[in-house]
Amino acid sequence: MAEKEVVETSEAQIAVHWKEEDLVYPSPQFIAQANMTDPEIYDRFSLDNFPNCFKEYADILTWYKYWDEILDTSDAPCYKWFKGGQLNASYNCVDRHLAEFKNKTAIHFVSELIEEGYEHVTFQELYVRVNEMAALLKDFAGLKRGDRVTLHLPMTPDLPVTMLACARLGVIHSQVFGGFSGKAAADRIIDSGSRVLITADAYYRGGNLLDHKQKADIAVDMAKEEGQVVDKVLVWQRYPGKNSTPTPMVEGRDYFVNDVLKDYYGARVEPEKMNAEDPLFLMYTSGTTGKPKGCQHGTGGYLAYAAGTSKFVQDIHPTDAYWCMADIGWITGHSYIVYGPLALGASTVIYEGIPTYPDAGRSWRIAQDLDVNIFHTAPTAIRALRKVGPDEPAKYNYHFKHMTTVGEPIEPEVWKWYYKEVGKGEAIIVDTYWQTETGGFLCSTLPAIKPMKPGSAGPGMPGIHPIIFDDDGKTLEEGAGIAGNICIQNPWPGMFQTIWGDRDRFVETYFGRYCKDINSKDWRDWPYMTGDAAVQAEDGYFRVLGRIDDVINVSGHRLGTKELESAALVCVEVAEAAVVPVSDDIKGVVPDMYVSLKPGYDASDELAAKISAALCEEIGPIAKPNKVWIVPDMPKTRSGKIMRRILGAISNKGDVGDVMTLANPEVVEIIKKMAE
Ligand code: WT7
Repeated sequence: MAEKEVVETSEAQIAVHWKEEDLVYPSPQFIAQANMTDPEIYDRFSLDNFPNCFKEYADILTWYKYWDEILDTSDAPCYKWFKGGQLNASYNCVDRHLAEFKNKTAIHFVSELIEEGYEHVTFQELYVRVNEMAALLKDFAGLKRGDRVTLHLPMTPDLPVTMLACARLGVIHSQVFGGFSGKAAADRIIDSGSRVLITADAYYRGGNLLDHKQKADIAVDMAKEEGQVVDKVLVWQRYPGKNSTPTPMVEGRDYFVNDVLKDYYGARVEPEKMNAEDPLFLMYTSGTTGKPKGCQHGTGGYLAYAAGTSKFVQDIHPTDAYWCMADIGWITGHSYIVYGPLALGASTVIYEGIPTYPDAGRSWRIAQDLDVNIFHTAPTAIRALRKVGPDEPAKYNYHFKHMTTVGEPIEPEVWKWYYKEVGKGEAIIVDTYWQTETGGFLCSTLPAIKPMKPGSAGPGMPGIHPIIFDDDGKTLEEGAGIAGNICIQNPWPGMFQTIWGDRDRFVETYFGRYCKDINSKDWRDWPYMTGDAAVQAEDGYFRVLGRIDDVINVSGHRLGTKELESAALVCVEVAEAAVVPVSDDIKGVVPDMYVSLKPGYDASDELAAKISAALCEEIGPIAKPNKVWIVPDMPKTRSGKIMRRILGAISNKGDVGDVMTLANPEVVEIIKKMAE
């Protein structure tokens, strides 16, 4: 019998076997043009200079009235940033750019259908559309400052136009990811208390014109059952004046936006002077348990942080063509497609569809045609692009100066492909670590100042002071070689203000574990718990290993799923890898490894053995998988996260549960058959 090892680690700790990668330095060309090249920024934003340092971010914005107090902690941990200040987000993203840039493109819209080409919305046109929509929302829909409105919109310019129209009026928008169901929209309508739903009739996805309007009917009916009446449904048409859905309009409730807008032709609406701490929007995020949490983001703090990080980390200049591939239905899209880039007067790309539709070169053609020079996406998309077309980027004449990876840890192998093939060795990469709750980046390199390290998010952002605690609240020092719970010692402007309508849950979830005194009004007593496991290297760079619960305990060794997966990706054949724990009488649990292959490679026992050997080689025999399953594709959510829970259920011969919300439910059956 294998001996069970007794290891002196607490619950939070994960032994870290991931090898440190070599540093990669930015080019002199990048540094020469960068927005932030002054290394003293880290001193200016030291804890000693907190919170006044954040004036530097707020000064990027235009204020109607400057604040009296930079940070009010009297209701800690619900903080008020820039208290007494007044501004409007719509004004900052649109009006203030007209003097200089009215004829410049604000939004490049790319239809999924190639034959529909590109649409370029100038700042002047954005101004006109936002004003007319704001007038409609105010007069026709009766919305006013402080009201919540649910948006369930796909990726077209109508979405930022609607968001900015809401912001102009001080109406709190709550955009639900377009791919989500009618039920998901209903839950959010109910929680936010929305009486208006703004939706669309249809949009393209994978070459099909999907009926979106049907979800609105489901959402409104379900909300009504729970006592939340939606009295107006505003429907943007994919083709104005043309019906693109078989779902009928409900008389007296549903209205086509483009019809009603005719009554507001030429209308102009004065932006509301919002208090800095007034909420700008809600963004719902799911936890592992319980109903989705409505993260409430404020106007002044959020916008200052989105603009500041867009300027210093994304290195956005007004002359840049910037493409973030996320969906605006996620926080990434709010901060880094809409609010950040537009606050800086840049040209932001909105692409309706799938990055690999209709072929592996589509994304790179878009980059070439629009001369995109800043590119922003997630490891899941990078892996997908690498899988379908590892040599495609070289075929197109585009040149990025800057690329971002966000959303999950990136395997160093994937990072290197991104750097070499997509970035052509010319673009710097920032690995930005943050969350829906945090509004903007927590960790990242400042690209002209700090070198890159593949697989590592880098140091805390200026003014963000991360700390790693073990379960007892003891600090794990730099270079400790074990992971713990990464927390942030101080508040920052982009941080959410509360969970909509549930202050207790906000306090309990994010501060309950490490708060030193729940009656304290001193921010030092309220470290923010991210819920992620991370390790800090000797150079101060943080490597995030995933959610605290994404760990596998083999014979008392706590292994991060991500480091096991990274080891599998060392094999050139492997496109994606996911590890799940399987119960084992002796070892407690053992890892099952699921992999999908790049095109041109076939599954074989030899390959499975090679992958198994790679894990032993990279991490140690402790990591030897119970079984390597070579599958056609990974079960994934619509946002591209691999559903390890489903793979785990299959490996443990359990119930996979409801899979219909997946992007590809059919692969679950195929994998189940393989495992029988
Ligand atoms: C969780 C937040 C951040 C916007 C998109 C996702 C993971 C995020 C990284 C990164 C390692 C990362 C964390 C975090 N995560 N970025 N660069 N490296 N992990 O927002 O849906 O709120 O998810 O994503 O686990 O807690 P989200």
